[in-house]
Amino acid sequence: MSKNYKSKIAGVGSYLPEKILSNADLEKIVETSDEWITERTGIKRRHIAAEGEYTSDLCYKATLKALSDAKMKPEDISMIIVATSSGDQVMPSTACVLQNKLGLSGIPGFDIAAACSGFIYAMSVADQFIKTGMFKNILVIGAEILNRYVNYKDRETCILFGDAAGAFILSRTDLSDEHGIFSTHLHADGEYGDLFVLPAGGSKIPFSKDVLDKNLHYVQMKGREIFRHAVRTLTVCCKEALEHNGFTSQQVDWVVPHQANIRILNSVAEYFEIPQDKVIVSLHETGNTSAASIPVAFDMAVQEGKIKKGQLLLLAAFGAGLTSGSALIRY
Ligand code: UT7
Repeated sequence: MSKNYKSKIAGVGSYLPEKILSNADLEKIVETSDEWITERTGIKRRHIAAEGEYTSDLCYKATLKALSDAKMKPEDISMIIVATSSGDQVMPSTACVLQNKLGLSGIPGFDIAAACSGFIYAMSVADQFIKTGMFKNILVIGAEILNRYVNYKDRETCILFGDAAGAFILSRTDLSDEHGIFSTHLHADGEYGDLFVLPAGGSKIPFSKDVLDKNLHYVQMKGREIFRHAVRTLTVCCKEALEHNGFTSQQVDWVVPHQANIRILNSVAEYFEIPQDKVIVSLHETGNTSAASIPVAFDMAVQEGKIKKGQLLLLAAFGAGLTSGSALIRY
């Protein structure tokens, strides 16, 4: 198949669970303070999935909104990709569970594990399938219920994470269309894999009583080191995306970065000499929602009237792996 097409964002949607866990709530659980969390991370609250609510449920709700935005029906979707590190189960994939919830069958669906960079990875994969002409409308989702993998006795991690899902419908368009994805770039540095780990549940450490006794079913993080790598990799990714397409940072209308820590976002903006008010920030409301963070931040900014059609948008992420990536888009 020849490369005759490009992808554009036909619809966006997101879903945040109703229940809120505020910094004040966390003060009652671990030794921390609203002041410390706000100052060191920028986070004020996060949304937490209800009992009986699964990652595929969050995906479903975000998908309905994205379909409505795209003025499409579920039957218009030709493939489903879900980026998640906290899917419903190891098997089947959350994409397949979602397909069934959407009343679809036959179309391919699979999950992508690239942690907080997962959505950029998923977008990039979808973009390749659309560019070759193989599929027309691909549902790309980032979704997490990471709160179920967090130790609420570990104040360094439990203050950071929230639950959410964000969905894009990427659609085939002609190369002459001014809207669409200019490029995606993906990277990984496996040598830093130990900086952010969920030790148990895989073939290395299968579940056992010992796993529960040693809390190996919770995420473990070397926060300060991730912070340093995050600033470096986000900066490299943004630079690569701009240089590849011949744009300057001044031409970008909005940077939509992975929402991990306000100090990381401010450092990247400073490096690029982008005013901080050109960086989309939603982490005060959501915390770090890993793979969901970029599409959720994107959709919230669309709802707030910040992101508008025709604008130049730079999406960039980093995450466990360590993975990283970017997408440069004319919305
Ligand atoms: O998406 C990828 C996932 N991970 C990340 O993005 C994490 C990136 N890293 C970060 O966001 C930051 O490193 C943290 C928010 C995790 C930590 O902030 P920091 O400014 O790097 O703090 P620190 O680790 O240097 O700790 C400073 C102090 C320590 O006390 P001492 O040793 O100076 O007495 C910590 O024990 O802050 C203490 N501390 C806390 N105090 C109150 C650590 N967590 C807390 C807390 N509340 N929740």
